[in-house]
Amino acid sequence: MAEAKPAILFPKAVIEGRVRELAEQISSDYVGRELLIVGILNGAFIFMADLIRGLDVPCRVDFIRAASYGCGSVSTGEVRITKDLETPITGRDVLVVEDIIDTGLTLSRLVEVLRERRPASLRVCAFLDKTDRRRVPFAADYVGFSIPDRFVVGYGLDYNEKFRFLPDVCVLEDIG
Ligand code: IMP
Ligand code: MG
Repeated sequence: MAEAKPAILFPKAVIEGRVRELAEQISSDYVGRELLIVGILNGAFIFMADLIRGLDVPCRVDFIRAASYGCGSVSTGEVRITKDLETPITGRDVLVVEDIIDTGLTLSRLVEVLRERRPASLRVCAFLDKTDRRRVPFAADYVGFSIPDRFVVGYGLDYNEKFRFLPDVCVLEDIG
């Protein structure tokens, strides 16, 4: 069966406005400091690129990649770092940037690992948040949009590595 055409949930212009608001909020929270922005690959790269261009505070960037064990879409909760940061984070103000929080397993584990490295501060900014899907409690410090339990793609988010390039966030109505 052919894949259904994704339906737009957040158009480009709405995303741009919200990302600008997040950048302003973050800039005012970190006045006089320098941020180390940690992007979680691959999904966060487009959001992160737009977010940092809206910042008024200086920042450096680095990336981390995590894989969760499990079968298909069912995660066992085990998270493994497959590409670590290249920057030491001890004593730095770290902002972790993620595309979407679903069960919360990835971020709760990553934050635990990063905290062990003693950053001066550590906060999380997620573009999207599916709060209904949590398996472990996790709250981000900054959230672009809370969304219902639907599978979304575009603006960096993928389905089997497809659709990341779409400028809008779309719902996959039917994955066939
Ligand atoms: P979790 O919070 O550990 O369950 O996992 C979050 C990760 O699952 C995200 O970084 C995405 O890679 C992926 N994910 C969860 N929901 C979606 C979705 O609706 N679209 C695309 N990726 C998703
Ligand atoms: Mg991801």
